Amino acid sequence: MSDHSEGHILRQHCPGRTFIETGTCFGRTVEYVLKLGATEVRSVEGHEERYRYCVEKFANDPRVNLWCGHSKDCLQAMIADLEEQLVFFLDAHPSGPDSYGDDRIGKEQEEDKIFGQHFVIIEELKIIAEHPIKNHTIIIDDQHEQAETIHQIYKNLLLEINPHYSFEFVRKNAKNIGPTIAGCLVAEVRT
Ligand SMILES: C[S@@+](CC[C@H](N)C(=O)[O-])C[C@H]1O[C@@H](n2cnc3c(N)ncnc32)[C@H](O)[C@@H]1O
Repeated sequence: MSDHSEGHILRQHCPGRTFIETGTCFGRTVEYVLKLGATEVRSVEGHEERYRYCVEKFANDPRVNLWCGHSKDCLQAMIADLEEQLVFFLDAHPSGPDSYGDDRIGKEQEEDKIFGQHFVIIEELKIIAEHPIKNHTIIIDDQHEQAETIHQIYKNLLLEINPHYSFEFVRKNAKNIGPTIAGCLVAEVRT
């Protein structure tokens, strides 16, 4: 099985569970968690061509359901009918010139901020907070270890959902990681 920089985290959480991803990209993590034994994957991608690519790629796999749009507009519908403890992989952010929202970030206009990573994650966490199950596992990808202020905002939102959430910063398992992206913030309720 091909290596994945978050493989060690995903292996721990995905087998036998439903996996909810924001930021499908080309479906690499979708493929990976299915091989790990995730029972179903639901994923949303904002970039229409990437979405179409993945629709074709997974056309014959009934375990995969895909959405196209901004995650803040799709996530609620993606999880509305699910009544179990889910694994979330929050990975929707501009990631290079062709990715969704890349040409909109860094601008002054208020409306353009809606594509920035922190805004997107906060909106996603607010949607997760509305779901009736209060102990989902939440993996927030592509975080800088030193980003303590924003991590505290994420943690506070999660602790409002359930005061028993515990948090771990897990480093990516890969060479050649850039200076600003170092790992995942993993939140879980241990029983
Ligand atoms: C880092 S890549 C995701 C990689 C993918 N999760 C994987 O592991 O293979 C981020 C993706 O999120 C998409 N994206 C960016 N902002 C988004 C948003 N607000 N809603 C949905 N998708 C978004 C980008 O177009 C890009 O394809």
